[in-house]
Amino acid sequence: MATLKGSRIIVVGGSSGIGFGVAAAALESGAEVAIVGRSAQKLKAAEKRLAGPGRVTGIAADMASEADVARLFDEVGAFDHLVATAGTPPPNYPIGEADMAFVRQFVDSKLVGAVMLAKHAVRTLKAGGSMTFTSGINKDRPPVPGGSVVAAIAGSFTYFARALALELAPTRVNIVSPGWVDTEMWDEIVGEAKGGYFDQMGARLPAGRIATPDDVAPAYLYLMQNEFMTGETIHIDGGQRLV
Ligand SMILES: NC(=O)c1ccc[n+]([C@@H]2O[C@H](COP(=O)([O-])OP(=O)(O)OC[C@H]3O[C@@H](n4cnc5c(N)ncnc54)[C@H](OP(=O)(O)O)[C@@H]3O)[C@@H](O)[C@H]2O)c1
Repeated sequence: MATLKGSRIIVVGGSSGIGFGVAAAALESGAEVAIVGRSAQKLKAAEKRLAGPGRVTGIAADMASEADVARLFDEVGAFDHLVATAGTPPPNYPIGEADMAFVRQFVDSKLVGAVMLAKHAVRTLKAGGSMTFTSGINKDRPPVPGGSVVAAIAGSFTYFARALALELAPTRVNIVSPGWVDTEMWDEIVGEAKGGYFDQMGARLPAGRIATPDDVAPAYLYLMQNEFMTGETIHIDGGQRLV
């Protein structure tokens, strides 16, 4: 497996949740990390929390904006690995009540945003590098009602990676599909009810509890480091697809 020591990694979504966990683990492995999100304030706070083991830089950019994405890669220059964990709470209304402006905004940032990241990353991604995107359990266990849009988007990532892995070879392209992970996103979705949701789901899971970002970060590091992994989706869900 290749070492991450001295490598340059971009984590889009690195100011919070899963991306923050990936940034922390990559820094521990000796990488230099650029964390990306829309809020400069969140980036500053994350930079502070991540300070210590290696060099971390916050770059404010919205992956739904092609101008921002182009500027991001211009600013970073040559780099080794792209990780994208960015995302916002999905639409959750029954299909008959779908708010199409919100649906379009979600598809635009999550899926079109990933396409734009790949489009501009190839300009400066070094040989031997990789891209890793994030899907999720909602494609396998869609919330009912209201899960159709997020299931469609999450499911599409597997095929996005397979096609891109062929097109960009030898650059590697992979997907991490997490189960429920205790992150700030859940505070936004269910607020104080989070503890109850997590206790219930944790009791059902073979793993016996909900994941933390530290539990899922090693899957991203593995995909960056293993030079034989490409076009693959890694499920890291504590057995959630089984229950
Ligand atoms: N948490 C889970 O249980 C879980 C399970 C399966 C899959 N996932 C997927 O994993 C992804 C990350 O989830 P999380 O729980 O880590 O969420 P989170 O804690 O809310 O973090 C999301 C990160 O993405 C950034 N972001 C959001 N929209 C962005 C945009 N348009 N451009 C650039 N950065 C953006 C946020 O910063 P700003 O707000 O400042 O932009 C933040 O850094 C989501 O796509 C989610 O669907 C999560």
